[in-house]
Amino acid sequence: MSRYNSPTWYKDAVFYELYVRAFKDGNGDGHGDFKGLLSKLDYLQQLGVDCIWLLPVFPSPLVDDGYDVSDYRNIHEDYGTLEDFKAVVDAIHQRGMTVIIDIVVNHTSDQHPWFIESRSSKQSPLRDWYVWSETDQKYREARIIFLDTESSNWTYDPLTGEYYWHRFYSQQPDLNYDNPAVQQEMLDIIDFWLEMGVDGFRVDAVPYLFEREGTNCENLPETHAYVRRMRAHVEAKWPGRILLAEANQWPEDVRAYFGTEDAPEFHMAFHFPIMPRLYLALKQRTRKSIVDIMNRTPPIPSDAQWCVFLRNHDELTLEMVTEEERQYMWEHYAPEPRMRLNLGIRRRLAPLLDNDQRRIRLLNALLFTLPGSPILYYGDEIGMGDDIWRDDRNGVRTPMQWDYSKNAGFSDADELYEAVIDDEVFGYRHLNVIQQQADPNSLWYAIRHMLAVRRNYRAFGRGTFEFVLPENEAILGYWREVDGTEDVPGEHERFLVLANLTDEPQPGELDLSAFAGSEPIDVLTGTRWPAIGAEPYRFELAPYGYHWLRIR
Ligand code: GLC
Repeated sequence: MSRYNSPTWYKDAVFYELYVRAFKDGNGDGHGDFKGLLSKLDYLQQLGVDCIWLLPVFPSPLVDDGYDVSDYRNIHEDYGTLEDFKAVVDAIHQRGMTVIIDIVVNHTSDQHPWFIESRSSKQSPLRDWYVWSETDQKYREARIIFLDTESSNWTYDPLTGEYYWHRFYSQQPDLNYDNPAVQQEMLDIIDFWLEMGVDGFRVDAVPYLFEREGTNCENLPETHAYVRRMRAHVEAKWPGRILLAEANQWPEDVRAYFGTEDAPEFHMAFHFPIMPRLYLALKQRTRKSIVDIMNRTPPIPSDAQWCVFLRNHDELTLEMVTEEERQYMWEHYAPEPRMRLNLGIRRRLAPLLDNDQRRIRLLNALLFTLPGSPILYYGDEIGMGDDIWRDDRNGVRTPMQWDYSKNAGFSDADELYEAVIDDEVFGYRHLNVIQQQADPNSLWYAIRHMLAVRRNYRAFGRGTFEFVLPENEAILGYWREVDGTEDVPGEHERFLVLANLTDEPQPGELDLSAFAGSEPIDVLTGTRWPAIGAEPYRFELAPYGYHWLRIR
């Protein structure tokens, strides 16, 4: 009946975030496309990911790389046609994988016919599809998100002498969700893509749908009400399909986007605040910030799931940290001013970690075992580099490095949408998929191995989470535990994850006497640890060492 092995399939899934333009050019025009992606699905399957998340694929003038949509019912011409898209969706499903697409609900491009019509006159039938005002003094408490570019959330439109509202670039006017026609239209668009076979959506910029005077215009009750309607709509017509919230907020505010068991909102939401704290912990040589934020994370409904990630297509955002933590992160991870963008850092995973293989693997080992479904950002599985000197966030959206040939095997064209990274450390001449697939000690193999091991268990995607903390604060430890359920049967699983956050050996000691007699097995290496006894369990972790210990 369904292509999902369980109604909550997304809890077991490993996600792979992919920018079609950057992945593989199938027609030689210098832009990645669906034909190219089709030819690389085997690669993704080999890597061991389950659900592919595609950045916006709609027609767009590309002021914000497709997050400025000019037609919600078509495919960007650089990528191919609706038929090409459908072929990729089908091929993904044939491989037992799933696919979600980005849907930009909060705003459109200023080139969208709706906005062109809306701005044409105050009497336009679509005037009310956007947020217009005679003054730019309304909603003054709303923050500006693209701080480095925009000085106001209002832009004056000389055509009719009024201002329009936008939370992002001025070329991205916000839709007016107080208008029932807008609300309905977005549901129809959702149906259109679900009909095409997608398994769900990453819903962009959720907190900003409504505006109300005297508030910061984020997370308003009206926004939650609309999300509940969206969920009910999807649930009724398309059971099994998922909605993933992009709400860059504190844990308690994101929690609200899961709704309740009776009135659900999103199936999934990114855990933004944990992300920078993983990096913080490494520099501060203590687990403290990780423990604090996880303890501040409320429980979520039983069919809800966090999405965790280390990097994505945006700057590494520092919105969900304190001012002090932000300064610390900037100082240690973005010493060069050019590395900073808005409230974040425009660098990829490997350069952020000085290309230190131990730290890169350690953070991935945590990513795959923390509560939630992990998301890999394309290229990070081979430790691709970035280029901070390119515009905006383009330096972390460069072509995928496949092999040693021209343009890293990404394209035959002489001109690309964005040049391939070609520097001494991260350049494609020494860093690419082919090279890493030929080397069993490569990052690619390490990640594939971790994913293959993870796949054998349910505890990491579905299990409970509880810290177990030795006195030594350089060591992070937690339990992941799960029982079989009716939906997802299986035996009891219990894991102890241990990690050394520093570059020195670290001794630790835990009271594990409840499991006396058991011999922990590190499922990543197959290594058997000494049997647990009644006395404190002592161990020493290698620099940046990590272990997934199964304890029966
Ligand atoms: C989200 C996207 C980002 C985009 C913005 C506006 O934050 O991740 O890339 O610029 O929304 O749509």
